[in-house]
Amino acid sequence: MSPEPESELSRIGISLPQGLLDRFDEIIHLRGYSSRSEGIRDSIRAYITHYQWMADVKGERQGVITMVYDHHQRGLMQTILDIQHEYGYVIQASLHSHVTHDRCLEVILLRGEGSELKRVAERLMSQKGVESVKLTTIAVKD
Ligand code: NI
Repeated sequence: MSPEPESELSRIGISLPQGLLDRFDEIIHLRGYSSRSEGIRDSIRAYITHYQWMADVKGERQGVITMVYDHHQRGLMQTILDIQHEYGYVIQASLHSHVTHDRCLEVILLRGEGSELKRVAERLMSQKGVESVKLTTIAVKD
C-alpha cells in the first residue's frame, strides 16, 4: 500500500508480551523488513485499512466470521454462545471445530445489514481469550 505523506516521525514506546514480540519478529524477518519500526508502521497502516474496510460494510450482506479462541478461557464459550443468540436474527448457522486441545475454530454464517454483521464481529473480538476474528462479506443483490 502507498505510504501516506509523513512529514515527521514521532517516537513511541510500547510494552508487549514477549511471546507476541517474538512472533512479530519472526514474521518481519520472513517478510524481509529491514527494521522492527518498518514492520510496526506497516502493521499500523494495515490495522487502519482494516478498520476503514469494516466501516464500509453497509447494506444487505451475506457474511462469514472466522474466529479462533482459547477453549480454556473461563466462561468464554458461554459468552460466545450468548452473543450468537443475541444476534440470532442475523446469524444463520455456526460450525465449531476443536483445532487442538486448547484452541477452537468457529465459523459463523450471517446475513443482514452490514453494520449489524460488523457489530457481531466487534463484540466477539473484544472478548478476553479470543485470538482472532475475521469478517468477510459480500453485497446481496437481486
Ligand atoms: Ni472446541
